[in-house]
Amino acid sequence: MILAGGNGTRLRPITNVTNKHLLPVYDKPMIYYPLNFLAGLGIKDLILISGREFAGDFANLLGDGSELGVDITYKVQEKPMGIAHAAGIAEKFAGGDSIITILGDNLFYVGKGEKEAIRKLVREFDAHPDGAYVFLKEVADPERFGVAVFGNDGSIVGFEEKPKVPKSNYALTGLYMYDNTLFEKVRKLKPSWRGELELTDVNNAYVAEKKLKHYILKGDWTDAGTFDTLVKANVIAKEISDKEQK
Ligand code: DAU
Repeated sequence: MILAGGNGTRLRPITNVTNKHLLPVYDKPMIYYPLNFLAGLGIKDLILISGREFAGDFANLLGDGSELGVDITYKVQEKPMGIAHAAGIAEKFAGGDSIITILGDNLFYVGKGEKEAIRKLVREFDAHPDGAYVFLKEVADPERFGVAVFGNDGSIVGFEEKPKVPKSNYALTGLYMYDNTLFEKVRKLKPSWRGELELTDVNNAYVAEKKLKHYILKGDWTDAGTFDTLVKANVIAKEISDKEQK
């Protein structure tokens, strides 16, 4: 599933008249990057979840997905009640299966070898889904993200969403693999301090069950939810585009 709802408040005033994920990032609309990344991992059966206001724009842009080599189902999140709330909307689509989730404002730029390694993880998880798999990236500004907390033995003991004093430099990227218990976990969530249902709390529920694995990303990654990260996203997008043309 690709999550592309939310208000994009940090990108106002542009997002007063369009959706964040439709904004240009170098030579493509933002949404192309997470979509192409999933397609490159072999995931072709996609559900795109967005708010009602701009849902038609996504359909106009992407159609049924065939031009991009994927098949897209659309669903509306009536209110931006959080990332985990949006994820819960995919329950029928998942139909009892596991599901890989990507945030619509995330750009990943990984080398060939790493892409193959991630593709292998996806295939293995798909064959034997049990628990959750998260993808972390070492960052200089962890306070902007969901942050992993490590125990003495190096295992993850939990995640904190945008902590003022981060306990590590490892951020949750917007790429997650979940078994089907995701949906019952979402149903049990309570809104966080920012009034939203958080995937970070879902991840903590998997940690409590000792069912969360992680992978540390070597390649480049950014989200694009602020003006500064949008600049970074453009730089990464140009690298992706230049490589595609070689
Ligand atoms: O980018 C990685 C970070 O994304 C993680 O490190 C954090 O743990 C995670 O909470 C998230 O943080 P953000 O504050 O950046 O999330 P944001 O509110 O910008 O939402 C990210 C995407 O999720 C956004 O591009 C659209 C989608 N979304 C968001 C909300 C609030 C929805 O589809 N529905 C929603 O209600």
